[in-house]
Amino acid sequence: MRVPPSAIVAEGLRKRYGGTEALAGIDLEVPAGTVHGLLGPNGAGKTTVVRILTTLVRPDGGRAEVAGHDVAREAARVRARIGLVGQNAAVDEVLSGRQNLVMFGRLYGLDARAARLRADGLLDRFRLTGTGGTPAGKYSGGMRRRLDLAASMILAPPVLFLDEPTTGLDPRSRAEVWDEVRALARGGTTVLLTTQYLEEADRLAEGISVIDHGRVIATGTPEALKSRAGGDRVDVVVRDAARLDEAAAIVARAAGVHAAVDRDALSAGAPVTDRVGALTEAVRALDEAGIAVADIGLRRPTLDEVFLRLTGAGPGEPAAAGTAEVPA
Ligand SMILES: Nc1ncnc2c1ncn2[C@@H]1O[C@H](COP(=O)(O)OP(=O)(O)OP(=O)(O)O)[C@@H](O)[C@H]1O
Ligand SMILES: [Mg+2]
Repeated sequence: MRVPPSAIVAEGLRKRYGGTEALAGIDLEVPAGTVHGLLGPNGAGKTTVVRILTTLVRPDGGRAEVAGHDVAREAARVRARIGLVGQNAAVDEVLSGRQNLVMFGRLYGLDARAARLRADGLLDRFRLTGTGGTPAGKYSGGMRRRLDLAASMILAPPVLFLDEPTTGLDPRSRAEVWDEVRALARGGTTVLLTTQYLEEADRLAEGISVIDHGRVIATGTPEALKSRAGGDRVDVVVRDAARLDEAAAIVARAAGVHAAVDRDALSAGAPVTDRVGALTEAVRALDEAGIAVADIGLRRPTLDEVFLRLTGAGPGEPAAAGTAEVPA
């Protein structure tokens, strides 16, 4: 089989639903064997991208290749090489996890014996072996999502699409799903996952495309996106609000003359280039001035701050021009 240089390539994808421009020209490139995050608020167009790349919906414009095949002209070839975990799970609630996996295996054309073998292998891999005859409807959220992942891996597809795999899960279940996604990527699977959680993209993805109103508004590594939000910062929290002005002046000097100091009730912070130099200088000068400090540290911006910087609005808030908001 030909090994494509990129597992997913999309160019200028457009899609309109009535008066709504769901996608206004999306470009994507995902190297094989990596995890890529499609990050955006409700209604950004994430699911529409996934539907086009998984051949469920035809784009109005643009083109895309998945696993080396064109999604429009070679849809069957694409389908044979992908797995999809949709936003709404497809497992049967009455059947046990094993029965679900055997059923999916049969649907994909495995004979009964091969389907059972595959099911048992996947139960083991996704740590669901002990669930016995428990109906999937009684699983915890994390177990359910692991079963969804297992079902999508029946054919061990080289490219896997996960649409908001951890939405609604508690932190522990979310961490379990993250572990499984990492394990799949280590095994060579290319993963495109959509998420509204900045932290999730940051933790899992090697590359991130931030999308808003059907457009890619930024793309890069989590680290690169964070540096676009202003790079590292020194932040100081003082114990006594009366000393905040002095502390802010010290932070400004430590950060460099042109630094913009942000402040609120008890804290002052500024972007810095010489991280350690600025921190050391701030600690020294605060100490010399006798200012009691509750906290001081170097901080990388969060992806929330990246989003704010890129769109002028928080995730989910309407940006300047726009399509209709989707109710949560
Ligand atoms: N089948 C459809 N018919 C009409 N409009 C649609 C349809 N599917 C999507 N849209 C619209 O297209 C836009 C993008 O929707 P999409 O579902 O791709 O967003 P999303 O980023 O997945 O959002 P969410 O985070 O809520 O899942 C929205 O304005 C949505 O209302
Ligand atoms: Mg969606």
